[in-house]
Amino acid sequence: MSGGARPLVLVTGGAGFIGSHACEALLTDGMRVRVFDDFSTGNAANLAGIWRDIEVAEGSVESPDALARAMAGVRDVVHLAARSSVAESIAAADVYRRVNIDGTRALLATAADAGVRRVVFAASSSAYGDHAAPHDESMEPRPMSPYAETKVAGEALVREFAESRGVDGVALRFFNVYGPRQDPNSAYAAVIARFRSRIAADLPITIYGDGLQTRDFIHVSDTARAIACALRATTPLAGTAVNIGTGRATSVLELASLIAHALGGSPVMTHAAAREGEVRDSVAVTERAAAMIGFRATTRIEDGLASMCR
Ligand SMILES: NC(=O)c1ccc[n+]([C@@H]2O[C@H](COP(=O)([O-])OP(=O)(O)OC[C@H]3O[C@@H](n4cnc5c(N)ncnc54)[C@H](O)[C@@H]3O)[C@@H](O)[C@H]2O)c1
Repeated sequence: MSGGARPLVLVTGGAGFIGSHACEALLTDGMRVRVFDDFSTGNAANLAGIWRDIEVAEGSVESPDALARAMAGVRDVVHLAARSSVAESIAAADVYRRVNIDGTRALLATAADAGVRRVVFAASSSAYGDHAAPHDESMEPRPMSPYAETKVAGEALVREFAESRGVDGVALRFFNVYGPRQDPNSAYAAVIARFRSRIAADLPITIYGDGLQTRDFIHVSDTARAIACALRATTPLAGTAVNIGTGRATSVLELASLIAHALGGSPVMTHAAAREGEVRDSVAVTERAAAMIGFRATTRIEDGLASMCR
């Protein structure tokens, strides 16, 4: 296919953990990719393997001018740029609202003006809050943190623009994504990246509460494929929310022992009081993803962890 015939996809947050994998999946699917990122938590090293195959535009979703420049010639948008720590959002709710809600509104308005076909939005399983698991999309959102509130607000904007501004959209509710390039050193590192780096260094890991709380861990390669599936779907997605998980629940204790097994060691655990407000169980119902975008996760957590720990 010639360069001109290949659709151009703008990936906001493309220099981040999920974004860099999404860019790779889209290139493999024959798309041209333009990354839009302010490099606040993402970095160029994440894109090292594809740097020559993509365009990179540095800018913030808080800047309508930068967004408008980045949108030129774009057919579809994958909108991943966000502040994404639950803990940080409690102390910095204003910043979270500005980047995640106002930024998403500005992005959608720019996309509508530019005649973009579809926006794939990174929503979050945190929308379910303390609903009993498994979680299906018909449940009323119950956000329990400023971060989760911004993600639910983003979903509503995606729906609104699909209904009234002619930009088709879908809100992919990612469950707990893990895999290569997830930063184990950030103050808000996800549990797998943190456990892995500590167990590998023979350092103790902290288990909050009884450790029987469960999560649905989905490998980033599956997550990136879900994004590609959402762009490929031939019927309108109409701003619908779609779970992106595996449907399998793994407890924190089981996770620690799976990582230790993959590393060939055993975890040293310290125990601490349960964290206030922590969701007990989180696991996705995955039927809608299969029906609407033809996506099912295929990486077993044992295999995903083994490939990270080699
Ligand atoms: N990792 C998960 O388990 C998970 C789960 C649910 C939802 N999500 C969502 O998926 C998306 C990607 O998450 P991630 O884990 O890859 O995080 P990440 O921090 O690695 O990626 C976010 C990217 O957005 C960029 N960014 C931040 N603010 C920006 C701004 N104002 N303008 C432009 N770029 C900006 C960052 O530099 C970074 O590259 C986020 O929207 C997050 O909320 C992630």
